Amino acid sequence: MSLDYRNPKLILDTSDHPQGSVTWVSPSNLAIVKYWGKHGRQLPRNPSISLTLDHAATTTTLHYHRREEVGGEPVSLELFFAGHPAPDFARRIKAYLQSILEIYPFLGQLHLVMHTDNSFPHSSGIASSASAMSALTLGLCSLERHFFDTLDDSSAFLQKASYLARLASGSASRSVYPWMAAWGQHGDIEGSSDEYAVPFGDRLHPSFRTIRNAILIVSSGTKAVSSSAGHELMDTHPYAPTRYIQAGQRLSRLIPALEQGDWATFGQIAENEALTLHALMMASNPSYILMKPGSLALIDRIRTFRQETGYSVYFSLDAGPNLHVLYPEDQAEAVEAFLHQECIPLCEEEYWIADRAGEGPREIIG
Ligand code: DP6
Repeated sequence: MSLDYRNPKLILDTSDHPQGSVTWVSPSNLAIVKYWGKHGRQLPRNPSISLTLDHAATTTTLHYHRREEVGGEPVSLELFFAGHPAPDFARRIKAYLQSILEIYPFLGQLHLVMHTDNSFPHSSGIASSASAMSALTLGLCSLERHFFDTLDDSSAFLQKASYLARLASGSASRSVYPWMAAWGQHGDIEGSSDEYAVPFGDRLHPSFRTIRNAILIVSSGTKAVSSSAGHELMDTHPYAPTRYIQAGQRLSRLIPALEQGDWATFGQIAENEALTLHALMMASNPSYILMKPGSLALIDRIRTFRQETGYSVYFSLDAGPNLHVLYPEDQAEAVEAFLHQECIPLCEEEYWIADRAGEGPREIIG
């Protein structure tokens, strides 16, 4: 049964004049089995699972006060990104907030000033929609809780934040949970749904809870083709039906590997998924390539190092050229020595981020 969060009762009384702010820090995530292809209102064509990152995060503060004027735009919003007005981003957020007015009618009664910033440089080429949209929707759920004394149960709170984040950006639905989260219905994940993500951290073998993720920046330029456009190309992709089946099957193989600490299976699936995503892009019509020569050079070095040393070091890719290197904490010293020697010199301005599985979003109080 599908969830219906529409609620005309979430409206402020005429005598209510709330004023204040809420702040959330929410991380980015890296999909191991990828979401690529969607239908309806932001519903995934296949289930996905991701690692919640720690350092790569967005901090968003929503300042609010009761809107005095009547009429005008359905939502009143000013948005500052890294301290500066960001009109394009503001338009996108405004459109999103308008699209959820049936869920949160009180949003039409407020003037919102949103301040948002990323922990990673905005020129780094790291996808930020998952962290940005989850930080926003966690803030919206805090507003609901604050105004109406609802959502006091933390799992109900996170489920609603995940649902709302999905409506903004599919991958954002997974960022609300610590360690790992799965989005999309799958028989081996109890409670899984196409409408929101569910936590997977409790099922993880300890060695995956402390997994390291070095993000190697190959190019920080803007992507030639957005993820939204990429999803759309899947609608007519000749490989799409097989791909959706494959994703579910890979998840079935990945789950026991994650539970048992089977790094070889985990790594094989992570690498195959990354290359499948990029192969789908290359075989789309029109075709496009987001990897750069530097991405391939790094892949080659990582595979050679693994073959020569036996270390459990694997790579993944998002929809872009940058490499995510995955390895266990107890091998971090050796792997990072290799990264410093052979990989970081190939990065753009030698830029990389040492990240790891994280505890998930947190609200900053006071
Ligand atoms: C390759 O979540 O950015 O990172 O729902 O259109 O906002 P929209 O797409 P988005 O797509 C992410 C695709 C991916 C794989 C993944 O995160 O699962």
